[in-house]
Amino acid sequence: MQPLNQVLLHKDCRVGPDLTAWRSTIGGKALKIALDDPSSLIPLIKDAGLRGLGGSGFPTYKKWEFLAAKKMAMEKYLICNGNEDEPGTFKDRVLLEETPFQVIEGATICALATNINHIIFYINPDQTASLASMRAAVELWEASDLYTEVKKKTPRLKYRVHASSGHYIGGEETAAIESIEGKFPFPRGKPPFPADFGVFGHPTLVNNIETLSNVSHIVRNGAEWYRDLGLGDAAGTKIYSLSGDVLEPGFYELPMGTPLSDLINIYGKGMLLDKKLKAVFTGGPSNTILTPKDIDVPLDFDSVLKRRSHLGTGAMIVVSEGTSIVKRVAEYVSFFAASSCGQCPPCKTGTYYVAQLLNNIDTGQGSQADLDSLINLCKILPGSGRCHLVDGAVNVLDSSLYHFMDEYRHAIKAT
Ligand SMILES: Cc1cc2nc3c(=O)[nH]c(=O)nc-3n(C[C@H](O)[C@H](O)[C@H](O)COP(=O)(O)O)c2cc1C
Repeated sequence: MQPLNQVLLHKDCRVGPDLTAWRSTIGGKALKIALDDPSSLIPLIKDAGLRGLGGSGFPTYKKWEFLAAKKMAMEKYLICNGNEDEPGTFKDRVLLEETPFQVIEGATICALATNINHIIFYINPDQTASLASMRAAVELWEASDLYTEVKKKTPRLKYRVHASSGHYIGGEETAAIESIEGKFPFPRGKPPFPADFGVFGHPTLVNNIETLSNVSHIVRNGAEWYRDLGLGDAAGTKIYSLSGDVLEPGFYELPMGTPLSDLINIYGKGMLLDKKLKAVFTGGPSNTILTPKDIDVPLDFDSVLKRRSHLGTGAMIVVSEGTSIVKRVAEYVSFFAASSCGQCPPCKTGTYYVAQLLNNIDTGQGSQADLDSLINLCKILPGSGRCHLVDGAVNVLDSSLYHFMDEYRHAIKAT
């Protein structure tokens, strides 16, 4: 197994906005390869098996192809999504702060592959260190010979650092587009999709910061190298944001497909105070739960899905015996209710109602009718919003009902 944090986030990339330090090692090498043959880039990303690491796992090359196909468009946008506001997720802020040139190089290579001429780094304003690092790095990049070389190929390429509004909903791709247009981040209805009608109506690609951070390493080392980093059929690496009841919570970059047990027991150094594992909120609160019987699951998109769960952003929130799942789910759903932008009634009222029912049950005031309502809402709410916010709230509820129905029944019995 590769040692921690040394696979992609090579120590040479973790130099902050120090261009000289970055260039003294690997910095700029991938860009030179990309400039020599931009047409090879999309097939390379396809061959590497890179998938969206912002939660969806959608094949990255397909999104790039949509944009590359817009040959007549004069303006095209890339939004590098660093909004990252979901509880338990803390990977993109580290990449932006510590490896800004890796992000800029990856985004620039993406722009060369797709003929994009506006790159926007979209960053959560609460992450002040990330914002400062990216602003300083972009300034240095624009004054460098690397940018001069890029402009020979694509003279109209511009960079911009945009502080998002800081709302969780602002990380949704169409909400990000609205924010960049200077408006409140209300998600748009789809279709039209961003590739057809994005920022100011121009074709737009939205990629996560971690996704883009992989790009220059693939270009420099090749598709096979990248695929081989993963375990089993999985390609590459994944950054897991490990938090909760483990001895060493933190940011771990590991081969995609690393078993959950290794993440918790080897890297997280085991359970806090030797407590027993009860559950893992997998992929952040907007996803699902895994229980100890699935501790062996390889952490990659497909394997996790087979266990009725989702890898999501790679956030793993570990909880021990003694933690109330009902309380925890009530807290998470309350976060989603407070984060709903209010455009879609089923999301606005649905998440609020679910939170209220959960709070009733958690505080010993719930009834069987409340539980029945929750079960019913799991059937009717999914897919009822413009974006997936309401789906996230239902995911975690539904998964908790599946794994911990006894706990819900007990909480009601106690009334
Ligand atoms: C409510 C909501 C919030 C989201 N927040 C983020 C975010 O902070 N960062 C992110 O990359 N993707 C976020 N997404 C997913 C984006 O819409 C989009 O799928 C992603 O940025 C695509 O990047 P990728 O293909 O590289 O994974 C969010 C989605 C929803 C529904």
